Amino acid sequence: MDKNKKYLITSALPYANGALHLGHLSGAYLPADIYVRYLRLQGRDVAFICGSDEHGAAITIRAKKEGISPKDIIDKYHSLNKSTFEKLGISFDYYHRTSEKLHHETAQGIFKKLLEKGGELEEKTTEQYYDEEFKQFLADRYITGECPKCGHSEAYGDQCEKCGSTLSPTELVNPKSTLSGNTPILKKTKHWYFRLDKHADWLRDWIKNGMLDGKQHHDSKTWKKHVVGQCLSWLNDKEGLQPRSVTRDLDWGISVPVEGADGKVLYVWFDAPIGYISSTRQWALENGKNWEEYWKQGPDKLELVHFIGKDNIVFHCIIFPAMLKAHGEYALPMNVPANQFLNFEGRKFSKSKGWGIEQHEYLEEFKDFPNKEDALRWALIRNMPENRDSDFKWDEFVDHYDKDLADNLGNFINRVVVLTNSYFEGKVPAAAIADDEAAFIEKLKPVKKLANSVIDEIEKFNFRAAAAALMELSSWGNQYLQDAAPWAARKSDPDAEIIKESLFVSLQTVAALSILCEPFIPFTSLRIRQLLNLPKAKNGILELVEAKLKLGKPLIPVGHKIGKPAILFAKIHDRKDKSRLEIIERQKAKLEAVLAAEKANERPPIKPETTFDDFTKLDIRTGTVLTAEAVPKTKKLLKLTVDIGIETRTVVSGIAEHFKPEEVVGKKVLLLANLAPRKLRGVVSQGMVLMAEDAEGKLGFVSAGEAWGNGLTVR
Ligand code: 2FM
Ligand code: ZN
Repeated sequence: MDKNKKYLITSALPYANGALHLGHLSGAYLPADIYVRYLRLQGRDVAFICGSDEHGAAITIRAKKEGISPKDIIDKYHSLNKSTFEKLGISFDYYHRTSEKLHHETAQGIFKKLLEKGGELEEKTTEQYYDEEFKQFLADRYITGECPKCGHSEAYGDQCEKCGSTLSPTELVNPKSTLSGNTPILKKTKHWYFRLDKHADWLRDWIKNGMLDGKQHHDSKTWKKHVVGQCLSWLNDKEGLQPRSVTRDLDWGISVPVEGADGKVLYVWFDAPIGYISSTRQWALENGKNWEEYWKQGPDKLELVHFIGKDNIVFHCIIFPAMLKAHGEYALPMNVPANQFLNFEGRKFSKSKGWGIEQHEYLEEFKDFPNKEDALRWALIRNMPENRDSDFKWDEFVDHYDKDLADNLGNFINRVVVLTNSYFEGKVPAAAIADDEAAFIEKLKPVKKLANSVIDEIEKFNFRAAAAALMELSSWGNQYLQDAAPWAARKSDPDAEIIKESLFVSLQTVAALSILCEPFIPFTSLRIRQLLNLPKAKNGILELVEAKLKLGKPLIPVGHKIGKPAILFAKIHDRKDKSRLEIIERQKAKLEAVLAAEKANERPPIKPETTFDDFTKLDIRTGTVLTAEAVPKTKKLLKLTVDIGIETRTVVSGIAEHFKPEEVVGKKVLLLANLAPRKLRGVVSQGMVLMAEDAEGKLGFVSAGEAWGNGLTVR
């Protein structure tokens, strides 16, 4: 951490062709926001950069399908994603768009520089797939087929979404055009290839040595094992470091800045990461900054960190760094702390299957839920897929809210504010330790230690551990106050020093919490600051806190008047007020409906047509079950006697796993009375009791109801 450094922090530019779900938030945006907010609290010079990725075949294909223009799509989702991030407190300094002129110029400039340098881009004519019906070359998502690595039947021409392999269209087995569905032909076309192969040696060295021991980079910050692992397996794969085509035959994108290259554009993965640079440039332009200070300095002056999901690792750790190195003027990332994936209630997020919740949907569904933004941020942080995939569950959302935010943090702060108001008219009491630095340092040691843990873990990108340390600090506060028990001391001696001291220490702890929680739950930080009657935690304040704790100086001075008590977090599980729980229950019910619908679709199809004559051959009678007993040596069968009016039948029925004998006796049933007798486990069954199965596979009796007598024929 260095005061004179620039920090450039990026989050993956999301495609502007759809809304983002909670997995995206927890993967690339929330962790970056925690880090950036922390850096700002430390007074660092930071730019937090993102924007919309508006090129690529996914957008043009969707536009074609919906009969609208790509621009209609990107305009809609750019504004939706941008405003949703804002509402959730993701504090980008700039959210740019790759369709902007400045971005086109920046990307073309880098392409031209690589071309002029010689040896980095090479022109090649090859045969590529072409759809004769649509008269179009088929790149990337315009072509699907079987993945040569894992066999997934719907791999795209550039990537298999099942196994994550990066592919080229000619590798696909049994390729098909997504435009016409036809098998494409091969046709010659010219493209520019980036000579990734030339960068193999330094990349391998950089990934292996530099990243693992951090020597070439920064302090002790190491790269995550799964990130290094994925990079190495890619680098060790012979196909991984082939020259890669960085242009496409498409009409949507950034035109290739070479004469005669009409109808060709830069590949979306060539221009998208350059979006980080153009977004920084636009931010600098609008804010009187020099963008080059954030991109073109050595590692002692600049720290570049990319926050992404694991599907973007190769592009950010190998291809983009190689492009930057080839260009020659740019810094390489100090770290790429990619997250793994977040699942949702045991499955992958899937919009088409109705599984999961999008960020803007959450805000809508939870509009009446107090602290909805921080409630979500907190649940996602506690369960962040930092090193392995994790699973979002509504029940855990509730637990994290009730146990951490309400019972722990909220409860502590509320107790302190209430007691300060009732014992000291809301003023920070003049405890003796306030003027005794050594005693103050001693008393506040646990606060200092836990504050340092929060800081250390954030520095190492361990946000889950940092959040846990924050909770430990609040638990410590609760326990301290409990042990000091000023309410007990007050009974015997209202002037006892421990009353002043315990509230003084507790107030210092609340002040520390109000700042340390800001990167995680910024809306709550502000509310705690209001309760303390202190201004918003401003840039650089954490540095001050660290210094004060070290020197034994109060964070909140004696005599300062705090605000009136107010509940920070009302529990979700509340006996009197069910409104918050109902919002959660609604979410769970939606998922159950999806499961039920799936079950229903799994049910057997309608059998072939039958005739009325065939149906009338069945003699179905109403009856009452008189006795029921298990058939020995089988788990499945019950032996029933059924009164059907004219006689009593013995029937063996395969329902023992669904009903106990005593549940069946007395039931009105329908019996197929003229079914040929059959011997089952030594018992002759004279007919069949009719049953039906519901969507969950639960069996029920088909009955003519209580109003009917026995022995009636069903027609
Ligand atoms: O995977 C994606 O959503 C890409 N749009 C990420 C691009 S990140 C960067 F390179 F811009
Ligand atoms: Zn695959």
